[in-house]
Amino acid sequence: MEETIVKADKDLSTRFAAIRQHTEFICRPLKTEDYVVQPCADVSPPKWHLGHTTWFFETFILKPFLPDYKVYDSQYDFVFNSYYETVGARVIRTDRGNLSRPTVEDVFAYRKYIDEHMGRFLENGDFSLNLIETVDLGLNHEQQHQELLMTDIKYILGHNPLFPPYATEYVPNGLKSMASPFHQVVAGNYQIGFEGEGFSFDNEHGRHQVWLNDFKIATSLVSNREYLEFINSGGYQNFNYWHAEGWDWVRREHIGAPLYWHLIDGKWMNYDLGGLTEIIPENPVCHLSFYEATAFANWKGFRLPTEAEWEVASAAFDWGSRWEWTNSAYLPYPGFKKADGAIGEYNGKFMVSQMVLRGASQATPVGHSRSTYRNFFHPHLRWQFTGLRLILD
Ligand SMILES: [Fe+2]
Repeated sequence: MEETIVKADKDLSTRFAAIRQHTEFICRPLKTEDYVVQPCADVSPPKWHLGHTTWFFETFILKPFLPDYKVYDSQYDFVFNSYYETVGARVIRTDRGNLSRPTVEDVFAYRKYIDEHMGRFLENGDFSLNLIETVDLGLNHEQQHQELLMTDIKYILGHNPLFPPYATEYVPNGLKSMASPFHQVVAGNYQIGFEGEGFSFDNEHGRHQVWLNDFKIATSLVSNREYLEFINSGGYQNFNYWHAEGWDWVRREHIGAPLYWHLIDGKWMNYDLGGLTEIIPENPVCHLSFYEATAFANWKGFRLPTEAEWEVASAAFDWGSRWEWTNSAYLPYPGFKKADGAIGEYNGKFMVSQMVLRGASQATPVGHSRSTYRNFFHPHLRWQFTGLRLILD
């Protein structure tokens, strides 16, 4: 089959420059030492994010498609490959914090080198649609890492005993009150999945029909005030509310509150990007695991939405300040097919043992959210900006 050749439009190179700059903007308040540490396996050092997103463009665009391209450093494949088996050996994830080299300065120089080559490449070429889609994937990948950068920076600073603020002007999102506390959806056949123009990930493709029963979904997220009631009524001490796995997790990890909550002199304090402050009762509760979200819903006598219920009802409420746990396992949609080559490793191989989160969060970059977006994490993880919304049958 003949490939369609198109001229990359100015918009793509402008967008490339803007997104790459935004990543560096997020890092601007950091000190050199903040770029390097890895306080737990799931959190990557900011320096690694900066290098890895750059490596993506070098590996999937410049090396295969720019004639006479000179690789910046042949060792970077080993250091900045995340999980692409197709591309070869890589440093293990838990060792990312041991990389005192390349230095922060080296990584910024690497970014500059790649940005200059990508800039020239995008301005001059005629490309196949496939290549343009790979650039677009690289940009959306970088935006995903922008959110991870925010959550990892928060974890790094929030686990420093001095609780340094990331940015003092940081203001957390408040709850938006809605006219009606619940939105009713009537039973019927509905369509879910991506359709239309613009970028989407392969895991959203395959728009398909789903049957939904009658349900009522809350138009607001669960607040800190409601979650405190759960804590104060002994929610973390009663196994009846928890999955067996969740209960094991609570006991093994000594969990008794959301991540970043600290009981100091009888007051619940919360570390946020602005520093350690008292809990704001009206704000949506944040940094819960799937286990905690489910236990809260059980305690309240409600349940979590499925991802289909969430998507169908999503136009009826404001979403976007918290990733919302759903009660749906992360599985392929009907007809899902992995792309050939390394790009096929992007989403499909993670479709096991994880739960879907819907919406977006205060850390999601502008222009990177849509109602069909499927985020996914293991049920015990809670360092993303995760919250919940309830359903009443
Ligand atoms: Fe990545």
